[in-house]
Amino acid sequence: MITLKTPAKVNIGLWVERRRPDGYHDLRSLFVPIGLFDEMRFEATEKEIEFCCDAPYVPGDSSNLVWKAADLFFTYTGVRSGVKITLLKQIPVGNGLGGGSSDAAATLLGLDRLFDTGLSIEELVSLSLELGMDCPFFLAPRPSLVTGRGDGIDPIDVPRFDLLLYSPEFNVPTPWAYKHLGRLTNGEKQCKLLAKALKERNYEEAARWLYNSFEDVVYKRHPELEIVARWFCKEGAWFSGLSGSGAALFAACPKEFEPELPEGTPGRMYRVETLEYWGVV
Ligand code: C5P
Repeated sequence: MITLKTPAKVNIGLWVERRRPDGYHDLRSLFVPIGLFDEMRFEATEKEIEFCCDAPYVPGDSSNLVWKAADLFFTYTGVRSGVKITLLKQIPVGNGLGGGSSDAAATLLGLDRLFDTGLSIEELVSLSLELGMDCPFFLAPRPSLVTGRGDGIDPIDVPRFDLLLYSPEFNVPTPWAYKHLGRLTNGEKQCKLLAKALKERNYEEAARWLYNSFEDVVYKRHPELEIVARWFCKEGAWFSGLSGSGAALFAACPKEFEPELPEGTPGRMYRVETLEYWGVV
């Protein structure tokens, strides 16, 4: 049996720059892995893919990205076996924290190890792209400038810092958010300045350049999120914003910052650290 822990990510800055002829969008974002993990177990069985998850709202059938990743692995490698996959979920679902993509990438890595198939990084990247644009990042999660559809990944040095996450009690479906996007914005210059500020641990400066193309449309639909984002900053966070297309918010904050959510605010808070590297172990 193989056990892997696979992390979530936040998008510190996200610019959707252009609609592409293939129906996707070109984006620019700093993807940063964080210390919030799902755990996955893989056991070889005689045949078929068996998938179980401890979270009741995660589909356990072939519509799950983990199931699809396993199916893709067996088809591509020709390995004649089955597998039982157990997913212990900690990363909130539909929150823009990359949980599903992270699980799918870890499935490819876990099965490659379990069956000793020795897939190259190029093969893993190409398989993971069939599963979703965020998946390649999770093959070797480290702070990266991500461009194109999500498939251009350039690692950058970002020293660790503390974050609070706010996960509300609703989801934002990513295709809905893309469909309702307003203005598209080129973020090349801003994103560079944001990365430089994070590298230098200059979080006040980072706050000047932080931007997320989805905030307009998501805050319009869920004004309570914008209220929490503003509340974080009023309480002393350096900056706060939406991760991906939401629904989670992050707030970068000093270690001693420990606010309680205002009474009556539904949802949960998590305290996490960003990661400089995670080898999916
Ligand atoms: O890659 P993933 O399957 O997670 O994307 C979900 C949806 O988000 C896509 O079907 C597409 O509608 C949208 N998307 C996009 N441009 C991207 C990534 C995702 O339009 N770069």
